Amino acid sequence: MSSSSPKLQIDPYERGWMYFSLGLLAAFAIAITVAGLAMGIQLPGFEQRVDPRTVDTDPNSPWSKPGLREVVPGKEYDAYILAQIWRYSVSEQPAQKELEVPLGATVTFYITSKDVQHGFLLQNTNLNVQVVPGQVAKLTYTFNQAGRYDFICHEYCGTGHAAMFATVVVK
Ligand code: CUA
Repeated sequence: MSSSSPKLQIDPYERGWMYFSLGLLAAFAIAITVAGLAMGIQLPGFEQRVDPRTVDTDPNSPWSKPGLREVVPGKEYDAYILAQIWRYSVSEQPAQKELEVPLGATVTFYITSKDVQHGFLLQNTNLNVQVVPGQVAKLTYTFNQAGRYDFICHEYCGTGHAAMFATVVVK
């Protein structure tokens, strides 16, 4: 009987796959580092906190007068959108469900909720974010194709959830 510890036997295939997995982890780590540092790709981060109890009534809150603001006429807009059960406020007229911008406009959306968690998914774009009460989501998109872009709530928020949508109209 030998007193030396037995040598660990690893099947060559298994060894190959272990190296492959380690290689993948290294590749992913490099890809994330390059995307974040060199290409500037970032997750949506902290923008602003608001008080959901007063966000629609405080006269200093832009969501007390939701809707479009022209930053550069015909080119750049800010859109303040307030999500609530069960609609998006996109203007001071509660019944209005459309935001109209010209073709080529760059729109920065500032979205928050005054009650429960909602979602914001702008169809045919890559804009998709959770809308959390107290937090402001900021997203920017340039509309280079005319048409109607519906945005829908994709977080279940109660019985009216399925009817919660509004539209960006690009002319
Ligand atoms: Cu709002 Cu679902």
